[in-house]
Amino acid sequence: MCGIVGYVGSGNAREIIIDGLKKLEYRGYDSAGIAVIQQGKILLRKHVGGIANLENLIGDDPMTSGTGIGHTRWATHGAPSDINAHPHLNGDGTIAVVHNGIIENYLELREMLAQEYGVKFRSETDSEVIAHLIGVYYTGDLEEAVYQAVGRMRGAYAISVIAADEPEKIVAVRKDAPLIAGLGKGANFIASDIPALLKYVKEIYLIENNETVVLTPDSVKIYDENRNQVHRDVFHVTWDADAAEKEGYDHFMLKEIYEQPKSLYETLTRRLNEDGTIKLDGISMGREELEQFGKIYIVACGTAYHAGLVGKYVIEKLAKLPVEVDVASEFRYRDPFVDDKTLFIAISQSGETLDTLAALREAKSKGARVLSIVNVVGSSVARESDDVFYTWAGPEIAVASTKAYTTQLMCLYLIGLYMGFVRGTITREFHDQFIADLKEIPDKLKAYLKQAGMIEGLSKMLYNKEQVFFIGRGLDSSVSYEGSLKLKEISYINSSAFAAGELKHGPIALIEPGTLVIALATQDALYEKMLSNIQEVKARGAHVMSVAKEGNTAIEAQSNEVMYIPSCRDELTPLLSVAPLQLFSYYVARERGCNIDKPKNLAKSVTVE
Ligand code: F6R
Repeated sequence: MCGIVGYVGSGNAREIIIDGLKKLEYRGYDSAGIAVIQQGKILLRKHVGGIANLENLIGDDPMTSGTGIGHTRWATHGAPSDINAHPHLNGDGTIAVVHNGIIENYLELREMLAQEYGVKFRSETDSEVIAHLIGVYYTGDLEEAVYQAVGRMRGAYAISVIAADEPEKIVAVRKDAPLIAGLGKGANFIASDIPALLKYVKEIYLIENNETVVLTPDSVKIYDENRNQVHRDVFHVTWDADAAEKEGYDHFMLKEIYEQPKSLYETLTRRLNEDGTIKLDGISMGREELEQFGKIYIVACGTAYHAGLVGKYVIEKLAKLPVEVDVASEFRYRDPFVDDKTLFIAISQSGETLDTLAALREAKSKGARVLSIVNVVGSSVARESDDVFYTWAGPEIAVASTKAYTTQLMCLYLIGLYMGFVRGTITREFHDQFIADLKEIPDKLKAYLKQAGMIEGLSKMLYNKEQVFFIGRGLDSSVSYEGSLKLKEISYINSSAFAAGELKHGPIALIEPGTLVIALATQDALYEKMLSNIQEVKARGAHVMSVAKEGNTAIEAQSNEVMYIPSCRDELTPLLSVAPLQLFSYYVARERGCNIDKPKNLAKSVTVE
């Protein structure tokens, strides 16, 4: 949610931290701040709004220190404001803290600090409590004070702390919120995510839960919760800083839409053996194990959940196993039936979504085998799973997920095919043909994306609709949910998705002359049924924009516009049909002047419940 960056070394901490915060702005952008240690004092600058506001505030202020911490915030406790922005200081301003996550017992701690120590709070945040708590325990040893404070804190958090009296040190702690340490020469770094540090370091330590890191210019030491020093292997980042830059596109979202053919190609081809069979690197499940599973749960949030809806269809069809799909925040509280014959598939781009992580832990504690589909290597979901299947999407920066979704779909196709093949529910011939069809998808998508101009034109005509409905049947209904989410999250248009057959059971009451209905009709077997549903809304005056396969032109008679996707087998259409919906959302949001990469109220990595 929030982003943390810290630096200790001989360089200019302010410059490095601001630069890192810009890379993390996708994690939260309602306020930002920085604290550095200069001449034995903590210098604090923070401002509501994006990093640009913070830079304006700093202006020509030299802030030349070599030690500091910075933060970009996504508000949980207390509205976005200068005061609520991080870093937070203790009473006499000698300790500064940045925090990502939630301190669940902050009210209790706040009361204790006020009553026992006479602490006066400046902000409404839970985070300020941490600064005061460390402050009251501080007697010249920051590690000791942090250790004592953490012992009283409950919740999920990552924190980084500096003390004016120890100018060459940062102490950071991770508990259920991401944290990495970057290893430089004569300088070290701490951050919430790799892109923040890529310009400076390629070697990092992935910090585990309940670990404390102590950084000085020359050392990074990691301690477990019992304060024993632990050894950590260095993780070498293989992608470069360019992969996290816009490369000439106006927005990360557009860049990431265009990256999909490459990401899909990578995700697919890295998983194929020379004989054309699938190698599930990271997954060790043979026939015997697969035979044991009586049920599969796919659990995720948001866009990843929508990928799961397609996954259910694919796995049930190919592997003939019952699959239930659930949103993570519901799964964990409904006491689902899970045992050691359950395969639990978690899907998460970031691998840090707290609801997904908590659902995973719940399933694991009941004996399920956990397989995750994750984009961020070394993330919490990946680390806590029995098997991990990585999407090869590369860093996804825009808050609205695009390439993560399509690569998640690709993984689900491969898992379904693999399971079907190993379980003997599909023939080798079917398997080979399916792979051949999958291999054609990246090029087909690339060709399709060349038609973006047409969709841009449509968006200029339709951008001012205030209500949009997405409808579809079968796999098209799953993609409708994703299309609707994309549109609402970046353009703030009130959009909803329905299985087209459900329209007449209620939602059709909302159709009025001019209402925009986006109808997906890519499934050959359901095409005629969709034409009838389109007629139903058309008869009530709807403006219908359809998505159909090339060649299926009968739909033109009932639609105001048709977006044709390249022809492919029915099972694979989601990989293509989502593209016009992504582009339409993008261009509509642009017409409406919205902040596309950083939509209001949202954050890229949702590490709170
Ligand atoms: C929407 C979007 C979110 C995420 C959801 C899960 O565009 O990005 O709905 O899909 O917050 O995030 P991950 O996949 O990181 O677990």
